[in-house]
Amino acid sequence: AMRVFSGIQPTGVPQLGNYLGSIRNWVQLQTRELEPGRRHEQYISVVNLHALTVPRDPQRLRRETGEMAAALLACGIDPRRSVLFRQAAVPAHTQLMWALACLTPVGWLNRMTQWKSKLQATPEDPAPPALLTGLLTYPVLMAADILLYQATHVPVGDDQVQHLELARDIAAHFNKTYKRRVFRAPTAILTASRRVMSLRDPTRKMSKSDPVEQSRITLADSDDQIRAKIQRAPTDSLGAVSFDPVARPGVSNLVSIYAALRDVAPHAAVAELGTLNNAQLKGLVTDAVVAAVAPIRDETRRLLRDPEHVEAVLRAGEDTARAAAAESWAQIAECIGL
Ligand code: TYM
Repeated sequence: AMRVFSGIQPTGVPQLGNYLGSIRNWVQLQTRELEPGRRHEQYISVVNLHALTVPRDPQRLRRETGEMAAALLACGIDPRRSVLFRQAAVPAHTQLMWALACLTPVGWLNRMTQWKSKLQATPEDPAPPALLTGLLTYPVLMAADILLYQATHVPVGDDQVQHLELARDIAAHFNKTYKRRVFRAPTAILTASRRVMSLRDPTRKMSKSDPVEQSRITLADSDDQIRAKIQRAPTDSLGAVSFDPVARPGVSNLVSIYAALRDVAPHAAVAELGTLNNAQLKGLVTDAVVAAVAPIRDETRRLLRDPEHVEAVLRAGEDTARAAAAESWAQIAECIGL
């Protein structure tokens, strides 16, 4: 059977990059087949263990976990079609992580670009934060998430592709070590909007951790906030709209956001937008983003007034996830001699 697995860190309400790079894909996969005639199951995890790599106040972590769950439901994650759960509610993730860590060379982790970027001082962060062990081993936990459910497909944004390749390498290495085909290799599913860029600096990706709020649109932004952020996004003076992320990063980012929301390829969007000036382009992009975000924002707010409902959905998902994970872990434990 085919199985989709993906995860998201509980950073409160998601930003537009999370939505276009992955969440929307999860919603669509609830009704779309991966291959004609073949059904699949889908597991979506709010990865609160991963969130511990950036230490934060416990109250805030708990609140942001609930907000993320509410936002995912508001985006259209349907508990009848997806198993939605908090990672920490399923102990087998950490158990499998340990088993995998014990056969993962540190060199593989040292090569991860996300880790390497944490080692570097930046103008905004001249003294990089303390390098915690969990930050290095974070991709092993991600591999455990995926492999525990025998996932065949993992819908993610661009920045997680290297971590997914590591998960494939770990799976193959495990099978070879124990001379059994315990794990299968998961495949990434990417969208055209796999890398939504910052609205301040279109050469960097849109990120929740960017200190500048102007750089991102969140699914909680008001229509006015969305309008103001897009209005101030950098463009260029090269004339008519075209799609060329290298030469025209600002304009191309707006085109690809628009194209994603319209469900067309960026080049197809250019056919429609080609004759517009920058102000007109921004107007259309704003309308498209507002039309997508407003209903999600309102539904998230409604769900946050009903935390018992969100909690009940998560608990039900956790029962299902624990059962699947326990079965899988029992086989793994048997295989490695525990
Ligand atoms: P996280 O929480 O940083 O992001 C969640 C998803 O959003 C995608 N994303 C983007 N896509 C396009 N443009 C952007 N600017 C952008 N920013 C974020 C991410 O690629 C991701 O798909 N380690 C993961 C969570 C995780 C996971 C997993 C994912 C844990 N275990 C197992 C898949 C499978 C993370 O931190 O994603």
